[in-house]
Amino acid sequence: MDLNIHYIQNSYIKNISVIGEIETKEDTERLLRELEASNILEFNITFIGANTLNTRIVEKISYLRKILKCKIYVLKRFLYLYLQDLGIKCEYVLKKSLHAKLNNKTPISELRSLDTDMVNRFLENIRLKFGYDYTGYQIDSVIRRINITMLRENISCFEQFEAAVLKEPEIFEQLFLDLSINTTGFFRDPDVFLMLRNRILTYLCSYSHIKIWCVGCSSGKEPYSLAILLYELGLLNKTYIYATDINPYIIEEAKNGLFSTSNIDKDILNYQKSGGTRNFVDYFDLNDSYMKIKSHLQKNILFFQHSVIGNGILNEFQLILCRNVLIYLTPQTQEKVLFTLSKSLDFTGFLVLGKSEGMLLNGGHSFFVNYLAKEKIYRLKQSI
Ligand SMILES: C[S@@+](CC[C@H](N)C(=O)[O-])C[C@H]1O[C@@H](n2cnc3c(N)ncnc32)[C@H](O)[C@@H]1O
Repeated sequence: MDLNIHYIQNSYIKNISVIGEIETKEDTERLLRELEASNILEFNITFIGANTLNTRIVEKISYLRKILKCKIYVLKRFLYLYLQDLGIKCEYVLKKSLHAKLNNKTPISELRSLDTDMVNRFLENIRLKFGYDYTGYQIDSVIRRINITMLRENISCFEQFEAAVLKEPEIFEQLFLDLSINTTGFFRDPDVFLMLRNRILTYLCSYSHIKIWCVGCSSGKEPYSLAILLYELGLLNKTYIYATDINPYIIEEAKNGLFSTSNIDKDILNYQKSGGTRNFVDYFDLNDSYMKIKSHLQKNILFFQHSVIGNGILNEFQLILCRNVLIYLTPQTQEKVLFTLSKSLDFTGFLVLGKSEGMLLNGGHSFFVNYLAKEKIYRLKQSI
């Protein structure tokens, strides 16, 4: 990270440009020191390269906005959406890419139908160049996402787009983020959490240690829901939750544990439907516009970037949740993932898939058998 600081002449207005991601503790301390300067009446902060901000910085800028005149400008869409979601008002500065400027001046507006073979070749080139493997994702969904990035970059010709993505990491990053669909929720599909509470965790409670893998954990609402459940059952202290996602920026958001309060009514309802009888809000510290998960619920969760395609097996888990990840993959890739998960599961463990996922078309029944069919909970074939 680099800081570019200047004061507007003859005033107490400070402009801070933050260049790059805030990666180290030293970066954080340095920025906080600059934000704490006492003689300032007004701040302008521009985040130029950052896709994420850590909790301390988010909390600081949120506080500054309350006590000072403070304008926040953001160049990365991912960070802009995060801050907006947390109710921290900021302005999105649209940075036109070089290619968009070279392009036709008239913005393109319609989606293109793209040749599947060309797109497959493009995905293979991405895999070779950036190490991210999208060759096994559902092609229709990938094409829709490519189209969104092309519209955003205002590039109408696929060959030109391909060249730009492979040459300019920033455009690849935009495509990577468009390919990552992060929809999630606290106690999503509450009937599944009810079964986890009443059937699965009550079974696992006799174990001296429990290890859970939450695959494709997105912004963390799923692993934090599990942590709440485990806490209520008195199992959290002997459990480790590994929470992984392909998207490194969403992992940083998950680590922050900050969430919008705008969905709180639905969160509370889902918690209650999942068998929760306490006050859901007690698990958070509330701010005006966002809430922060209590730290005792964070300490047994290990968040890290990991792709379930290609990064291999992780450990021996008693419970694996891989919900709403397979739907984006081809049946062949789903089978590979299910094989990886079967090798990562303890002999007597459980696998939970998403409500619209299953094992009918992907060969998953070679490794797993139904345990609770409606809730998409499975066990290893040879364990029965
Ligand atoms: C729709 S969200 C589901 C979140 C959560 N599991 C739930 O059901 O609420 C899918 C998540 O899977 C992640 N994902 C996609 N491909 C992945 C891969 N190959 N390895 C790990 N995570 C992946 C995405 O980044 C996204 O956060």
